[in-house]
Amino acid sequence: MRTFKSILLTAIATTMFVGSMQAQLPKETEVQKTERLQWWTDARFGMFIHWGLYALPARHEWVKNQERITTEDYQKYFDHFNPDMFDPKAWAKMAKEAGMKYVVITSKHHEGFCLWDSKYTDYKATNTPIKKDLLKEYVDAFRAEGLKVGFYYSLLDWHHPDFTIDRNHPQRLGEEATEADYAKLNKGKDMAKYRQYMKDQVTELLTNYGKISIIWFDFSYPGKNGKGHKDWDSEELLKLARKLQPGIIVDDRLDLKDVEGGWDFTTPEQYKADKWPEYNGKRVPWETCQTFSGSWGYYRDEHTWKSPAQLLELLIESVSKGGNLLLNVGPTARGVFDQRAQDRLKAMGDWMKFNNRSIYECTEAPAEFKAPANTLLTYNPKTNRLYIHLLDYPMGSMSVAFGDKIDYVQFLHDASEIKMKKNGDGSCILLLPIEKPNTEIPVLEVFLKK
Ligand code: GLC
Repeated sequence: MRTFKSILLTAIATTMFVGSMQAQLPKETEVQKTERLQWWTDARFGMFIHWGLYALPARHEWVKNQERITTEDYQKYFDHFNPDMFDPKAWAKMAKEAGMKYVVITSKHHEGFCLWDSKYTDYKATNTPIKKDLLKEYVDAFRAEGLKVGFYYSLLDWHHPDFTIDRNHPQRLGEEATEADYAKLNKGKDMAKYRQYMKDQVTELLTNYGKISIIWFDFSYPGKNGKGHKDWDSEELLKLARKLQPGIIVDDRLDLKDVEGGWDFTTPEQYKADKWPEYNGKRVPWETCQTFSGSWGYYRDEHTWKSPAQLLELLIESVSKGGNLLLNVGPTARGVFDQRAQDRLKAMGDWMKFNNRSIYECTEAPAEFKAPANTLLTYNPKTNRLYIHLLDYPMGSMSVAFGDKIDYVQFLHDASEIKMKKNGDGSCILLLPIEKPNTEIPVLEVFLKK
């Protein structure tokens, strides 16, 4: 006979089991995950768009924080937000012509301003002079150009009254401030309400705009006077996203690195990865996000713009290590892409038009292929072709160690033959024209032996 105690223990154990089951994210195998991410790993190149009220001050999207602006003083940007030249069809066309296959826009950045007509706040585009759901038009335009559409959603919110002030907040205390000091400062604020607000907004975003392919949550900073997964209720937020948009691809900034299914790809920001990033000893899907210059939001007086060659190198370099590039544009407060961004997108598109075969569906070359000096290699496993990107155009010839593996070589941009001289030791010399072809970074397409 079961005693009362044993029944009670069973009941407790069952509750704990069910409880932990509920806390789990959908399970999938490695293969299933690879398949779910396939379109994205094939795409390799996407556009990031940072657009919000910070386009008006035009001096960094963190301006409210950097200059410790109060919500009251920041209001002038809301009152003057009127992007009368907003033409998302033109944006989408530029992205497509640059060779980008997907796009991620800041539906809300840290300042808290929402580009869409959210039911849960008045702090949104529809209440500014432009009076429009800008997100809706963005989604329609990019989708019409055939790009996959994603949303960035800021976990931080420097406008919401219940979002507690922390070390990353415009109204932060000095560095020596204790948790108790912050507790005093935050009296009356209720993060539980803010957590609900995020869930409500994510529900809107992932319900009202059709198929959303990516959600980019940003970001966590656990530790003293910071915020992490408990503050955001990250697991529930993620479960919600995965439920509303099955298959959606999610970044790794929810502070769920060690939770199974807690993230899909890692996000090295503003630096070149020196090798394929690993987690717990395993290579992981990754995407580097980068700016044309030093800021994400439109920054009028910033002049460290990367050249087309540098930008292409970033893209090629990412693919050569198995990753993606998400390249950011910060539109102006009139709603247009800065001319400097337009020029660079155009230059990248000119190159991509003839050379995209070395990017799409490509990845790191197998280890047996050693990159010749001043080159980057990519490889398409489906076609068994190797791509040699000539960063520093050689004078007339180039020595390649894996000559005996090569069947045929041509320039990618014009499919003109490159002759080979085989050496006795398995290496070969590729005979190149003295004159550098008229393409920013010439690419050799190498057909490998079966
Ligand atoms: C950082 C910044 C932010 C930017 C993001 C892009 O986390 O807070 O301004 O949106 O990186 O990756």
